[in-house]
Amino acid sequence: MAEDFNVKLTDKYYTPDPSYRQNSWVGDYNKAYAEFKNDPDGFWDRIARDLHWFTRYDKVKEWNFPHARWFIGGKTNITYNCLDRHVMGPRRNKVALIWKGEDDSERIYTYRQLYREVMKVANGLKKLGVSRGDRVCIYMPMVPEQIISMLACARIGAVHSVVFGGFGAAALNSRITGAGAKVVITADVTFRRGKSIPLKHIIEEAIINAPTVEHVVVLRRELHQPVEIHREMETDFYDLIKDVSPDCEPEVMDAEDPLFILYTSGSTGAPKGIVHSCGGYMVGVYYTTKNVFDIKDHDVYWCTADPGWITGHSYVVYGPLLMGATIVVTENTPDYPDPGAYWRMVEEFGVTIFYTAPTAIRMFMKLGEEWPDKSNLSSLRILGSVGEPLNAEAFEWFYRVIGKNRCPILDTWWQTETGMHMITTMIGEPMMPGFAGKPIPGVVADVVDKDGKPVPPGTGGFLAISEPWPSMLRTVYNDDERYKKYWNTIPGFYAVGDLAVKNKDGYIMVLGRSDDLIVVAGHNIGTAEVESALVSHKSVAESAVIGKPDAVKGNVIKAFVILRNDHAPSDKLKNELLYHVRITLGPIAMPSEIEFVTTLPKTRSGKIMRRVLKAKEMGIDPGDISTLDE
Ligand code: WTA
Repeated sequence: MAEDFNVKLTDKYYTPDPSYRQNSWVGDYNKAYAEFKNDPDGFWDRIARDLHWFTRYDKVKEWNFPHARWFIGGKTNITYNCLDRHVMGPRRNKVALIWKGEDDSERIYTYRQLYREVMKVANGLKKLGVSRGDRVCIYMPMVPEQIISMLACARIGAVHSVVFGGFGAAALNSRITGAGAKVVITADVTFRRGKSIPLKHIIEEAIINAPTVEHVVVLRRELHQPVEIHREMETDFYDLIKDVSPDCEPEVMDAEDPLFILYTSGSTGAPKGIVHSCGGYMVGVYYTTKNVFDIKDHDVYWCTADPGWITGHSYVVYGPLLMGATIVVTENTPDYPDPGAYWRMVEEFGVTIFYTAPTAIRMFMKLGEEWPDKSNLSSLRILGSVGEPLNAEAFEWFYRVIGKNRCPILDTWWQTETGMHMITTMIGEPMMPGFAGKPIPGVVADVVDKDGKPVPPGTGGFLAISEPWPSMLRTVYNDDERYKKYWNTIPGFYAVGDLAVKNKDGYIMVLGRSDDLIVVAGHNIGTAEVESALVSHKSVAESAVIGKPDAVKGNVIKAFVILRNDHAPSDKLKNELLYHVRITLGPIAMPSEIEFVTTLPKTRSGKIMRRVLKAKEMGIDPGDISTLDE
């Protein structure tokens, strides 16, 4: 299988300066891994003891295949560990959050200030009738209030469901109704490349058939042209927190209570509501933020992800705040007003840890070295990547041009479902470009065939995980059958849905998805979701969607469309279909190419063979087509 992907297995390791390992939290990888293997529960117990529990758990885990429970009987609140703990200690006046806007404006919160704001919004939500267990949808741009709203929900035990601001009304509606959200928090606009893009009207459309929604909270940003607040349903964000107390006791949560739901694309049209827990998730992201990023108190940490994705949940918000770190957040795009924007921020804030996505790195490569070279990047000490494979060329460029041949690169493999990093090259260990690395201490993973038998080095197979871990998803919201599927595809394993190959040293290279997901610029898009959006247009009879390799985005979407009899192909119709996908699913799911066809390759049972379309598109052998219906 590896041959199909043209995998080049190089033998070139990059070895970081020994001081990285000597000074790291994790120390020697092999030793840490052995400690975990000898006593997995003891390993996680030692980590969990760093955090505050209102009531200590009496057991680390209960594994009842395929359901795990962690920190049984433990009571906690993640915001207590993210905020109170620091405010009561020496980090009270430490900067928690530096936010930068497109217009160069800055907002800075110390831990104490963030703590007060979170408690005010928490009390505001209580005023709206939100209580423990209620779902709150957050659909906001990357502003401090997005993070504050997430923490405010967690403070009172409400379950947040953050939806990325690039989703359209139909995608948003299915996520709101799926979670049964009582309140939606949004903003009037998001600023992007010098323009303001309205958000509120998308919410207005998305809640038309969403009967559970009782209130919409609107953050009004464009002060010179304020949008109208429809009082019967909507509340101004600032009114919500006016005259409320800045004190709000943390709700005492059971370790297994849900902390949040986050929707991710699945292989059917309906997205999956991945459910994470209060206790296990907290321990998993705390552990990885500390040991993978090796965060120290003097670090200035910048993860460029939007909190609307899991990377933002775990490594913009919860992980770094659990560590008491200083985080940088911006609404800026990397190439606006010019391609030097991010590098100036690195210099300006003295960023020491920089975590981004391969698609951004490849874009920077294309824009040229002169842009990063204009800024002083000497503050950087660690680089990271997530979301899709970091190909060897992009690794080498990132290492040389941004890291100045000095900074280790963490290519972190993980998923919405895993909650935390699972595979990477731990700090100080030799790095192999193109390979994410090994399972981190705490994780047991391998490359196996469909029967769960490990495949030899150099042979492709399925990436799979064999032991439960604290921050694993607990279920798929209202659909436990879909949860069970993860554990029932490959006997004895959690099947992650990625293809991978190992080298002789056990380093894992992730090759791409084995299912019907397409990773576009690091965002997972389900083929079925795009297909059903297309079919919902009056002119479309049938459609099939594939991912096509792209030098910058990793993949782009190509759609094949069969029209209904009374419609003829035209460029105008193509644009209409693109617009239709933009409005329903959102700009992130738009195909970059549409081709009108009269038939689609199908199996005799009527399933579309996307693999055959893809092979034809790329001019390669489609493989076994014995099931193809002539
Ligand atoms: C892909 C993002 C290769 C993979 C945290 C996975 C990666 C999916 C990497 C999860 C990586 C993520 N190397 N592929 N370092 N990181 N992926 O749920 O296909 O948005 O299954 O979580 O992204 O995407 P998700």
